Amino acid sequence: MIRLSKLFYLLLLLFSQQSFSSPSSSSSSSALVCSQHQSSALLQFKQLFSFSKEVSSFCEAAGHHSYPKMESWKQDIDCCLWDGVMCDNTSGDVIDHELSCSWLNGTIPSNSFLFHLPHLQHLNLAYNYFNHSPISFAFGQLSRLRYLNLSYSMFSGQVPYELSHLSKLASLDLSGYGNVSLETSVVKRLVQNLTKLRELHLDHVDMSSVSLSSFMNLSSSLTSLSLNNCLLRGRLLDHIFRLPNLRELRLADNPQLSWFFPMVISSKALRFLDVSYTIHDSGELPKSIGELKFFRHLIISGCNFYGPIPTWLGNLTQFTLLNLSANNFAGAIPM
Ligand SMILES: *[C@@H]1O[C@H](CO)[C@@H](O)[C@H](O)[C@H]1NC(C)=O
Ligand SMILES: *[C@@H]1O[C@H](CO)[C@@H](O)[C@H](O)[C@H]1NC(C)=O
Ligand SMILES: *[C@@H]1O[C@H](CO)[C@@H](O)[C@H](O)[C@H]1NC(C)=O
Ligand SMILES: *[C@@H]1O[C@H](CO)[C@@H](O)[C@H](O)[C@H]1NC(C)=O
Ligand SMILES: *[C@@H]1O[C@H](CO)[C@@H](O)[C@H](O)[C@H]1NC(C)=O
Ligand SMILES: *[C@@H]1O[C@H](CO)[C@@H](O)[C@H](O)[C@H]1NC(C)=O
Ligand SMILES: *[C@@H]1O[C@H](CO)[C@@H](O)[C@H](O)[C@H]1NC(C)=O
Ligand SMILES: *[C@@H]1O[C@H](CO)[C@@H](O)[C@H](O)[C@H]1NC(C)=O
Repeated sequence: MIRLSKLFYLLLLLFSQQSFSSPSSSSSSSALVCSQHQSSALLQFKQLFSFSKEVSSFCEAAGHHSYPKMESWKQDIDCCLWDGVMCDNTSGDVIDHELSCSWLNGTIPSNSFLFHLPHLQHLNLAYNYFNHSPISFAFGQLSRLRYLNLSYSMFSGQVPYELSHLSKLASLDLSGYGNVSLETSVVKRLVQNLTKLRELHLDHVDMSSVSLSSFMNLSSSLTSLSLNNCLLRGRLLDHIFRLPNLRELRLADNPQLSWFFPMVISSKALRFLDVSYTIHDSGELPKSIGELKFFRHLIISGCNFYGPIPTWLGNLTQFTLLNLSANNFAGAIPM
């Protein structure tokens, strides 16, 4: 057993989420009048749900606060002032729905009035409970969306290919403990059409039938790719490491996924890599990691690495977390 004396972990991760975080809905100061059409569409949307704190328990477990935002949705109040709703301050169109952790229990049918809000740019329904219903193809009608987050909300079934119509998406999160699965043909369409994607998070989505080559043409704007626990199988092509803007790559817990760290890593952006419990092809820690001077997190537990811990690891001074556990390394960590 080696002593990991040079392990330091800070919890201040450099996540670049601020650009997507939702503007606060209560900050609109001008006197906006929400159109009757929007107001009644939203009230009909509200009718689809019952509210219970239990259904957002994953939210609390993830350290966020949950409460029933829709309680403030009342007929006699301008809908642009409702909690979780934000309007364009000139047109009054509803452009932003931040409804994560809102205790929603119900299902969203494809004829829901939610899909009659054509100006929506931001939609977050994470950490609610959609009762194992499928993700409706009608999400594909919200063609102005830049941000779509349906994570940890108990959707089930196939991801509909219609999401590939959302060609403005910069962030897509379909992670979840439900029963969502993705097919190769859908991945291909998503990759082909979502050319502005910066974040793609699909943790726990069943991708056991997905051919890894379908990721070949991933958007070069991608900064964060998260495919933890996706039942991925086969050999990952090293082009992933060539995506020029990729900062964070998470592929953990895919025990049938093999990969190879390329000899030359052209992407110098990489800061965070978690490939624990996957298979590294060679078993030797690749020297090219030593070129990533700005690496912060390297988590390679359980990858069958063996042999001496390379001395050049000591050259990487920026680490905040280095986890080499559950491998067969010998010797001490170089200081
Ligand atoms: C609308 O809001 C944006 C961002 O908050 C601000 O930059 C812009 O000046 C506002 N426009 C008007 C007309 O109030
Ligand atoms: C969610 O709604 C369903 C049906 O409307 C109900 O049977 C179930 O008890 C609700 N779940 C919770 C946790 O309230
Ligand atoms: C790509 O998006 C456009 C709309 O932006 C749509 O018309 C087209 O059908 C989409 N292609 C695929 C393969 O989904
Ligand atoms: C999705 O929403 C949840 C809850 O707000 C958040 O924790 C998560 O980071 C979001 N995902 C993305 C890609 O923004
Ligand atoms: C997953 O989905 C399938 C088919 O939709 C269903 O039969 C199965 O019970 C689901 N499993 C879980 C754990 O929800
Ligand atoms: C990637 O894009 C190229 C050029 O558009 C195309 O010829 C190729 O078939 C695509 N590969 C995949 C796996 O989609
Ligand atoms: C690590 O640093 C030492 C001393 O500065 C240098 O000689 C060596 O080439 C470096 N190794 C790598 C892999 O960068
Ligand atoms: C290192 O990884 C192992 C296995 O994934 C995990 O159990 C352990 O908690 C990790 N240690 C740190 C400090 O993150």
